Amino acid sequence: MNNEARKFYITTPIYYVNDKPHLGHTYTTVAADVLARYHSMIGDKVFFSTGTDEHGAKIEEKAKENNENVEEFVNRIAADFQFAWDELEISYNFMGNFIRTSEQRHIKAVQKALQYLYDKGDIYSGTYEGWYCQGCEQYKTKGDLIEGDKCPDHGTKVEWINEETYMFRLSAYAGQLLEKIEKDELKIQPVEKKNEIISFYKNQGLRDISFSRKKVKWGIPLPFDESHTAYVWADAFLNYLTVLGWDGDQANKPEMWPPQIQLMSKDILRVHATIWPAMLLALGLPLPERLMVHGFFLVNGQKMSKSIGNVVAPADLINKYGADGSRYLLMSAIIFGHDGDVNWQRFDEKYNSDLANGLGNLLNRVISLIDKYMDGGIPKVASEDKTELKVKGVDDLDKTFLFDVANIWEKYHKAWSDIHPDEALRHIKELLSHCDKHINAVKLWEISGQDKQVAAKHLYCLAETLRQIGWMIIPFMPSSTSRVWQYLGLKPAEEIEQSLEDAKKWGGLKGGEKVNKGAPLFSRIN
Ligand code: MSP
Repeated sequence: MNNEARKFYITTPIYYVNDKPHLGHTYTTVAADVLARYHSMIGDKVFFSTGTDEHGAKIEEKAKENNENVEEFVNRIAADFQFAWDELEISYNFMGNFIRTSEQRHIKAVQKALQYLYDKGDIYSGTYEGWYCQGCEQYKTKGDLIEGDKCPDHGTKVEWINEETYMFRLSAYAGQLLEKIEKDELKIQPVEKKNEIISFYKNQGLRDISFSRKKVKWGIPLPFDESHTAYVWADAFLNYLTVLGWDGDQANKPEMWPPQIQLMSKDILRVHATIWPAMLLALGLPLPERLMVHGFFLVNGQKMSKSIGNVVAPADLINKYGADGSRYLLMSAIIFGHDGDVNWQRFDEKYNSDLANGLGNLLNRVISLIDKYMDGGIPKVASEDKTELKVKGVDDLDKTFLFDVANIWEKYHKAWSDIHPDEALRHIKELLSHCDKHINAVKLWEISGQDKQVAAKHLYCLAETLRQIGWMIIPFMPSSTSRVWQYLGLKPAEEIEQSLEDAKKWGGLKGGEKVNKGAPLFSRIN
């Protein structure tokens, strides 16, 4: 076994600052954060990156519409994103970073990298003629359009561009990239998305692409011709490197490079599976290991998006359910990788059933019984040996608890390695409902009044299971973890000191420790 920590670098897309964040952006960011926290929990060396994409005509126009100076405008919206991510305890600030493409560290590195590509002939002077959607900031082919001249994602008319430009030699990399994607050297998940990309390569192929705009002033000037600014995606993609402190010199590969997972939704997969890895090949840098694509949040069947006008702000969710509640609801809202509808009624119902009545109520039941029948202390059980925990009248206490907790851990880890955080949550729920059923099946409140020794064994098992559930929820609800442990009489700072391997060993709770009663973990919403 190699004891050296593995590295885990995960990225979110950098979001456009033409408008404030909504639940779609929040979903991606929270999903990346739960993955980052899981990997940190299992001992990996983690870097989490997110940020804002601030250049281009779309943003320049939006600032103008608002009668704001463009710098002030982007500062304001970028701060909104950071504020929302801070409220949700997104871990970029303690195990990663937030990058803004208007920062000098980014601009200088982009210029250096583009100069390198120009010097080696991968960027060359030419002209571009074709369709462009400003909403996507992407070039479109006739086949991409609906109703003849509209962008399928934005529903707005595309514009015809015919201008002098600098081109990127994208076509030169098509063969290599297709092979890498087919062989999973650049893995695209889920597999349907991989297949879509492969057919795109096979049916449409890659043509050289315009990499600069003469008419767009709000962008990074090309170092070899300052009358042009860099195409906003050429600028934006490099954030994944500059966020690690990269200086633009292709020879200086950052230690955390390449990403293990780049998370995004399907709207931007094609550019991430074509232009982006081609830029990396041109720079001589390793490709990301995996592009992971999740579905869209829909409202009544339509994508949640500012252009449709059906957005919910993260603050609305946080004000109602708190940070942990919101993180939980986002991660359990839809099947990871599929589109799904979200609405307030469903959020309320899930909050009540899974958090208030689920975890919160179980904790409350166990703590109250310990308080009432065990003098408020974690019961002392004779031995941690599972055979000793067999109790008259219950067929297999060890099987009911010990087997299941270990088994749930196995399923839990499998869900994460398949990149299915929503499934990891379902396994936790399974364990919670198992505990509830157990309490009801043995009528624990009755046993507690009749036979303290027998009740002690049940209550110990339940409390110990809750300690371990505290660990399982770390990626999703980091603050609730501490609270669960406090109720159980543990000191969170000490509990977290252990490695996960040690924490998973049965018997971590020491008999005699006083439990704490307190306000409900999650209050019901009416
Ligand atoms: N700036 C580019 C990305 C550059 S990365 C080098 C961009 N920005 S964006 O603000 O439009 O963000 C798109 C991403 O936001 C999606 O890929 C997805 O991660 C997230 N989402 C935006 N709306 C969403 C939903 N309705 N549902 C789920 N995720 C959504 O594209």
